[in-house]
Amino acid sequence: RVLAGRPRDLAGRRVVVSAGGTREAIDPVRFIGNRSSGLQGYALARTAVARGAEVTLVAANVALPDPAGATVVRVESTADLRAAVLSAAGTADAVVMAAAVADFRPAARGDSKIKKTSAEPEPIHLTKNPDILAELCDRRREGRGPAPEVIAGFAAETDDILANGRAKLARKGCDLLVVNQVGENLAFGTPDNAAVVLVAGGDPVEVPRGPKDDLADVVWDLVAARLG
Ligand code: CTP
Ligand code: CA
Repeated sequence: RVLAGRPRDLAGRRVVVSAGGTREAIDPVRFIGNRSSGLQGYALARTAVARGAEVTLVAANVALPDPAGATVVRVESTADLRAAVLSAAGTADAVVMAAAVADFRPAARGDSKIKKTSAEPEPIHLTKNPDILAELCDRRREGRGPAPEVIAGFAAETDDILANGRAKLARKGCDLLVVNQVGENLAFGTPDNAAVVLVAGGDPVEVPRGPKDDLADVVWDLVAARLG
């Protein structure tokens, strides 16, 4: 589908998309990061704009130009991403968490650069990060403040994709979970993706290998169908 040929079925809707991968500082010059390029999140933002939505794109460490028509908030750490997503989610109809969020961060971030000495290096102790997607779903379930009508997550699974994905969808309490098939040169940094979209209370939707824009459109089709 060309961008101009899309339905305007998200007109008047506010959506939040997170993209990229968070970085957790070890010291002022080093971080723990991941391989997310942000391409899938940017495809989601671009296609949502084309379908008429008002889009806030929360971008973590993405080396891509801002998509036209979206409000872009650039962040680095999981704490930054959480603050930006939760703040934008308060007035959003839908949130799609496409970002790869670090599960752990160094427990202590040194203010000075770690220096190499003749001794063996100290281990880096990690602590858990908050789960932003679960937090959004918990807030909605508990009726704590305004909450998005549709909440979607992404998951990259390597084995037993359907069983792992189903368990994750239930655990998080979200409406949609896009389960990426990793491997075979798919997902990270490539223009193509292949996925199964798990739907709470519905049948899974298989999306064959194809451009990330196509997967984005399937996600927005499912989001639009769930918006009242
Ligand atoms: N996510 C999040 N906050 C985190 C970790 C993940 O909001 N601290 C979101 C991701 O943006 C994604 C979804 O949760 O949309 C699933 O991420 P994933 O890493 O697959 O799930 P985890 O619960 O972290 O499980 P695991 O990594 O152990 O498979
Ligand atoms: Ca994780």
